[in-house]
Amino acid sequence: MKLKIAILPGDGIGPEIMTQSLGVVQAVCRKFGHDLDYQEGKIGAVAISDTGIPYPEETHLLCIASDAVLFGAVGSPEYDNNPSAKIRPEQGLLTMRKQLDLYANIRPVKAFSSFIHQSPLRSDLVADVDFVCIRELTGGIYFGRPQGRSEDGLTAYDTCVYNVDEIERIIRLAYNYAGKRRKKLTVVDKANVLSTSRLWRQVAQRLEKEYPDVETEYMFVDNAAMQIIQFPKRFDVLVTENMFGDILTDEASVITGSLGMLASASVGAHTSVFEPIHGSYPQAVGKDIANPLAMILSAALMFEYAFNLPNEGRLIREAVDASLTEKIVTEDIAGKGRAYKTSEVGKWIAEYITLSGK
Ligand code: IPM
Ligand code: MG
Repeated sequence: MKLKIAILPGDGIGPEIMTQSLGVVQAVCRKFGHDLDYQEGKIGAVAISDTGIPYPEETHLLCIASDAVLFGAVGSPEYDNNPSAKIRPEQGLLTMRKQLDLYANIRPVKAFSSFIHQSPLRSDLVADVDFVCIRELTGGIYFGRPQGRSEDGLTAYDTCVYNVDEIERIIRLAYNYAGKRRKKLTVVDKANVLSTSRLWRQVAQRLEKEYPDVETEYMFVDNAAMQIIQFPKRFDVLVTENMFGDILTDEASVITGSLGMLASASVGAHTSVFEPIHGSYPQAVGKDIANPLAMILSAALMFEYAFNLPNEGRLIREAVDASLTEKIVTEDIAGKGRAYKTSEVGKWIAEYITLSGK
């Protein structure tokens, strides 16, 4: 099969983990006889310093001409510490999401049995955790207008906006997902306070009747934040709005032992994007210490979702599991054991794939 993919490494550790993920993708393509055609594009702070724009037109054209996009991370301390910067690297990611209409971000949260002891939670709480967080990605407070400051600069505002169509399409996607899993959907909102949340709940209650085989529960976001820590095994599919999803998935990711492990798929009307949920980790740049697993697992999601090639995805997961069992891991999850470099972990996984019997 011919696989045309866009590679957007972005900022910080993005390029380092992308190199490893690409090495894994190449190994898989050699193994299964796929013809890989990839091209690199700029996004984030690197794009700003090259072109002045965080998501240049050229990058957008590359994305829409590709079958899938692998994205690393954006963000830079230079901007984080300068709240008055008008152009910001994160705008690159947000513009890409909006322009590709990536309305659903699917974040699987699964415990890796070989290192549940790395979790900050007790092993008995974490073993067998397996849920999916579906985050709405192109609406809500991230994109609502007006947004900004009053003329005197003393007041700032953001606006949370959702319409019925935006809510309906993500809830339907979540129901379809839940229908293929353990058939339980948790709709997370703040309907006791926010009017957008009340609209979410109203739409979900209407759709609930169309999916009688799925059990629906409604949960306020503060309660969900607590239950994810207290009873993570109770969740199957969780659906929520943009910012709640951003926060809950960072929280959920540490259950599995490290933020460096969680991959995600962003899907919508055009090309899908596969990205780790972590950020650009500027403190680690150039040190070859960042965990490449979330980026490598994002490539597994890409094979499965964008190309419908489950065996390729499975082999990547098997190789990642093997690296965990053999403790070929980076410092964030090495505990008292030896900490391997980003590049060593990536090469080990690519080699496992090359040598495997499929
Ligand atoms: C994420 C990130 C982004 C977000 C940032 C980098 C804009 O935190 O993908 O979760 O908030 O969506
Ligand atoms: Mg986030």
